[in-house]
Amino acid sequence: MVTASAPGKCILFGEHAVVYGEPAVAVAIDARVSVTLEPCQGSWKLSGAPLDERHPHARFLHSQLVGDDSDPHSMLVTSELFPAAGMGSSAALSAAIGAALMHWSTGGDELNLEHISHLAHIAEAEAQSGRASPTDTSTATLGGCVLVSDRHEDSADWRWTRTLDTPEGERRWEVHNVTLPDSVRDAYLVVGSTGIHSPTGEMVAKVAGMLERQPDRMGDIARMGQLSRIGAGALAAGNLVETGRLMDEAHGLLAGLGVSCPELERLVAAARPTSLGAKLTGAGGGGCMLALTTEPKATAEAIEMGGGRVITTSLGASGVRIER
Ligand code: PMV
Repeated sequence: MVTASAPGKCILFGEHAVVYGEPAVAVAIDARVSVTLEPCQGSWKLSGAPLDERHPHARFLHSQLVGDDSDPHSMLVTSELFPAAGMGSSAALSAAIGAALMHWSTGGDELNLEHISHLAHIAEAEAQSGRASPTDTSTATLGGCVLVSDRHEDSADWRWTRTLDTPEGERRWEVHNVTLPDSVRDAYLVVGSTGIHSPTGEMVAKVAGMLERQPDRMGDIARMGQLSRIGAGALAAGNLVETGRLMDEAHGLLAGLGVSCPELERLVAAARPTSLGAKLTGAGGGGCMLALTTEPKATAEAIEMGGGRVITTSLGASGVRIER
């Protein structure tokens, strides 16, 4: 028996802009997805059901890492994340399944993180019509703080290049870790869920429509990319006040692109008096917001009073790992 786990993520800067080649910054959070692999009778199973086309991520990872001739096992999944809310639950699931299968099939060799991240990214893309940025899967695998860009960024530690054949041709990303100083431990993220499904595809299409109608909004996309670079630098320097200020600015730009909603606005407004900065995170249109705060209890209570469900987390949890 083997159990692997991987963290969820929050995007601090650059969601939507990353679709247009700008950098994005994400952090791994203290809420994880765990997968336990146990021998079973008959055929391979996921959470009690046969492993079939209902589980494209798991099927792909299984075919790549162990194949059909392998002894049947069941994969039992538990998750601490809000599902379909932009917290990277499917990427964390893919990374945890990849790690569990790799650990089992190699007899316990050290995990090859780049290979897990690569397979998890392809699995995500296969399940999303061939399009997926490696932000979620890289963060679930590497943990910490991740900067994804179309170029090598001097301010961060380059880890690997990810390429993907998409319907629009080959795309390429440089994946980095941003080292967080100890002082960042004084801060917390409070993630507030609206409870509304966040339709990533619809939101990406909405932004594309807006940019077609109002091409000068590309300036906002470029500014969001700048915020990712400046924000990564502020985090690396432990400048929490500046990071929060930049998050507020990022939220204003995202709202201007039409991806906020009244529920997100209510939670962001509720969080601001006790936090350093607050913004929607991920695709928007529902899903989650997050606040950077040194008063996590007060911020969490304010978001709950505004109608949100909360997860409080430190910044930069560890990446995919074998638990036992
Ligand atoms: O799936 P989410 O909610 O983490 O948001 C995805 C982020 C986008 O930039 C909107 C889309 C993408 O592919 O990067």
